[in-house]
Amino acid sequence: MEFDVDSWRELPVYSGVASDYLTEDSGNPWLSLGVMDSIRDEPLLQAWDHYLGIQTEMLVDQEMTWLRARGFAQNARGVLEVGSANGDYGAHLAREFPDVRIYGVEANPCLADRYDPLAETGQNYSIDICKVGEQELPKEISGNFTHCILRYVLQHVSDPARVVSALYDALPVGGRIFIIEEDETYLRAQPNWPAYEGAVDIWRRVLAAGGTDNAIGGKLPGILAGVGFDVDAFEIKLRNNVEVGDTFLAYFAAASRVLHLTNPSLVTERELQKVISEFEASEAEHRKRYVATYPQFLLSAYKAAP
Ligand SMILES: C[S@@+](CC[C@H](N)C(=O)[O-])C[C@H]1O[C@@H](n2cnc3c(N)ncnc32)[C@H](O)[C@@H]1O
Repeated sequence: MEFDVDSWRELPVYSGVASDYLTEDSGNPWLSLGVMDSIRDEPLLQAWDHYLGIQTEMLVDQEMTWLRARGFAQNARGVLEVGSANGDYGAHLAREFPDVRIYGVEANPCLADRYDPLAETGQNYSIDICKVGEQELPKEISGNFTHCILRYVLQHVSDPARVVSALYDALPVGGRIFIIEEDETYLRAQPNWPAYEGAVDIWRRVLAAGGTDNAIGGKLPGILAGVGFDVDAFEIKLRNNVEVGDTFLAYFAAASRVLHLTNPSLVTERELQKVISEFEASEAEHRKRYVATYPQFLLSAYKAAP
């Protein structure tokens, strides 16, 4: 998906939409998907497209270096990507690893429908609808992968161990799992940067109200070991605004917009606009005045012989 870092300024602000997901019946209560449950309104879907595009743009190069160094997709029969959303990231993986078949699965058909295979990638990527941990994997995928990847998925799941356990059962001995997550505990700015603090506050409030666990990064090794995986790599990478530049601002502004649309009664349009104008005001100077973090957690584990 083509993405223009500057386009966040031009996006219209929607309000009074997408607020109903909190009260809707989201199916089986033990596997609900936090702030990503039941997303189907077009403005919110567009905001997610935009946010996911910036996220990929900001992080993907270092992630690919880490994944390659850890053997991702190497000698794999196939790769299962759980939680593909609109396919932006999976399409990137497919281009990076053209010799490997990547099977995307996504719980929400409204998000998966936004993926256009003709526009996005070659022949080695597809997205099927499946809620892993609650539903069986499609027959054409089951048994055809030896690696799997979950990026920013487990934080949304009401029972992450259940999803990871289903993957443990689905992988052969020697199979690998790669997980990329975040953890709000490591978000920090020095000195106090009002735009960043405002965005982080929005993030914390909406995720807590919606049932997404934004502090999952530090829990990953325990969750994986608890279902039987052997964790052999775990890294915390602190990205920062001085390194990343204006994409860092665009990222937090896009996150604030998604979260406003997710819960407009908790984050008003006025609050969103305040954060966005504060980011705009700090654009020229932020790299000289502040150091602010974005923490990424990367884990690799395998299924050992019993
Ligand atoms: C934040 S998006 C991440 C999308 C993509 N992995 C990326 O990094 O850009 C998380 C996605 O995971 C999906 N998801 C969460 N739990 C799932 C499950 N158990 N099975 C399939 N999809 C799931 C959600 O519906 C959502 O689209």
